[in-house]
Amino acid sequence: MSEFAAVDVIRAKRDGGELSDAQIDWVVDAYTKGVVADEQMSALAMAILLRGMTPREIARWTAAMIASGERLDLSSVTRPTVDKHSTGGVGDKITLPLTPLVAACGAAVPQLSGRGLGHTGGTLDKLESIAGWQATIGNDAFKRQLQEVGAVICAAGDGLAPADRKLYALRDVTGTVEAIPLIASSIMSKKIAEGTGALVLDVKVGSGAFMKDLDAARELASTMVRLGTDSGVRTVALLTDMNTPLGRAVGNAVEVAESLEVLAGGGPADVVELTLALAAEMLAAAGIDADPAGVLASGKAMDTWRAMIRAQGGDPSAPLPVARENEVVRAASSGVVTSVDAYGIGLAAWRLGAGRARKEDPVSFGAGVLLRVRPGDRVQAGDVLLELRADEAGRIPAARDEAVGAVVIGEKAPSTTNLLLDRIA
Ligand code: URA
Repeated sequence: MSEFAAVDVIRAKRDGGELSDAQIDWVVDAYTKGVVADEQMSALAMAILLRGMTPREIARWTAAMIASGERLDLSSVTRPTVDKHSTGGVGDKITLPLTPLVAACGAAVPQLSGRGLGHTGGTLDKLESIAGWQATIGNDAFKRQLQEVGAVICAAGDGLAPADRKLYALRDVTGTVEAIPLIASSIMSKKIAEGTGALVLDVKVGSGAFMKDLDAARELASTMVRLGTDSGVRTVALLTDMNTPLGRAVGNAVEVAESLEVLAGGGPADVVELTLALAAEMLAAAGIDADPAGVLASGKAMDTWRAMIRAQGGDPSAPLPVARENEVVRAASSGVVTSVDAYGIGLAAWRLGAGRARKEDPVSFGAGVLLRVRPGDRVQAGDVLLELRADEAGRIPAARDEAVGAVVIGEKAPSTTNLLLDRIA
């Protein structure tokens, strides 16, 4: 591989140039090996954020990140494989009911998930609130569980796209997470390396998401769909609203409890709607003709959930952790709830201890926010709007400050908004 000077690559992108394939291959490989320093990659990431990348550059960058590690071979799994990835939101527990539901319909769902950082929660943190459940499993156990149960949610192994792990941590502290080429290549390098045959993306749009507006979300979605399709992964994206938290529970154990309600045939309408919409897309992408609503109602998805939790050492019957402290936020005036801001609620849950400030911090499993109202509900002054749960009482005042401003009470009912905003294939 040819050698370049990192500073020349940085200058080329800073001045709006297009990087060659050889420059991209070199810089990603050299950064992974520690030859290109963090401060050099930070400058390059900022230049990419400001200048963008062409489709060719993004495809090559993604391929270089895949090539930095191993690529799983799932050909021994006889069921069609299909995965879902959400770009991250508040109260987004959809992976929990969706994975066993799609598996119960006949697919194999390899869900390599992450931990939460900042105001968005992580699927692994939620599942770790179940007694005994292990996030880390080896590649052989992963494939066996995929074949036998049809559903695995676990931590991505260190061997998968190591360039992304290093780069993502750097972007997180250098204000470069929001670059569309870097988000698209980060997500798709992991999904392509994971070996899934089909992929459904849930691209979140709104205050609680990375993408605050629909145009940026469309650009991200179409970039990822193209990367997947060009790599032989059948890829579809749904754009979904993230101005309001999903469901009524935001946290870890509280989100598991809400997911169990969905698997038992109940649960909040928006969580059920999105679970069924994504399941329908995943089954179509996998070429499986099944009725996810019927399978959910039959209890088969709950059976698969229990098998999936047990296979990773968890006790599906164990009581979930409950936080020690519980305080409510009450309405200061009477009227109609006009909005419940996802970002504010996400921050409140984070301050309560449900999320972490640094990646090595622990999370509190019982902490979180329970929404007692949704947009459109009528309230009287003094009614309970939110419940705040924390293990340490000292966390509640700062969370309360965030939470109070997140629920807006007005005079007129808000116009109804759609949860499903667009579909990109
Ligand atoms: N999720 C990822 O995996 N990568 C990003 O860059 C953003 C969200």
